Amino acid sequence: MRPMKKRVVILISGRGSNMSALIEAAGDPGFPAQIVGVISNRSDAKGLAAAASLGIETKAITRADHTDKAAQDAALDAELKRLKADIVCLAGYMRLLTPSFTEKWAGRMINIHPSLLPLYKGLDTHQRAIDAGMRVHGCTVHFVTAEMDDGPIIAQAAVPILPSDDADTLANRVLGVEHQLYSLALRLVAEGKATMKDGRAVLSGVSAEGSLLSPGSASEAVDIESLARMTP
Ligand code: GAR
Repeated sequence: MRPMKKRVVILISGRGSNMSALIEAAGDPGFPAQIVGVISNRSDAKGLAAAASLGIETKAITRADHTDKAAQDAALDAELKRLKADIVCLAGYMRLLTPSFTEKWAGRMINIHPSLLPLYKGLDTHQRAIDAGMRVHGCTVHFVTAEMDDGPIIAQAAVPILPSDDADTLANRVLGVEHQLYSLALRLVAEGKATMKDGRAVLSGVSAEGSLLSPGSASEAVDIESLARMTP
């Protein structure tokens, strides 16, 4: 008998392309998690309509509707409990959660960020990587802690930065890989193969490459050999 699927709630603030990728992955009968709700801090987030059109329960929990951030996070916590969430996925959820909330969900809440953390926390990651002259860039899925874009790293994927790239072309290349990496990381967490212990992500039953998107597994992912051949 298959183990029960983990119940996942996705938090978004915008278009929700990572959310859509997770919903699609979870549509596979063999995927170890099901998406039971999507919540946004913005009632106009495009992703809410996309999720609703797929029959997923949606809700906006906004700052304007609450006296302070703590009250907003208490409402969020109550909604996650009502939905019986096992795992929370932040997918472009662009507000900082309160430490008491992150503490409650420690080890059960993950985030995707468009850089190879710990480089480039925050905004404008693609332009900052280009400006720094980086030859590789990428994305990271990590357990959420009280610090922004911080916390134990579960999985990463690298993409090359091409001489012709601007922030938009690079963002598109990274986004395509984000969609694959997030499903991979959620699978690891839902299967109990990625856990948080003593402030670190512990992987078990996963090969050394199992938390990387390796060359060939994604057409956009970095091919280390061709990168090495690239002339400056
Ligand atoms: C994604 O690139 C995600 O990595 C980023 O916001 C974008 C959301 O796009 N998240 C962060 O920067 C978190 N610090 P999406 O709404 O299409 O998934």
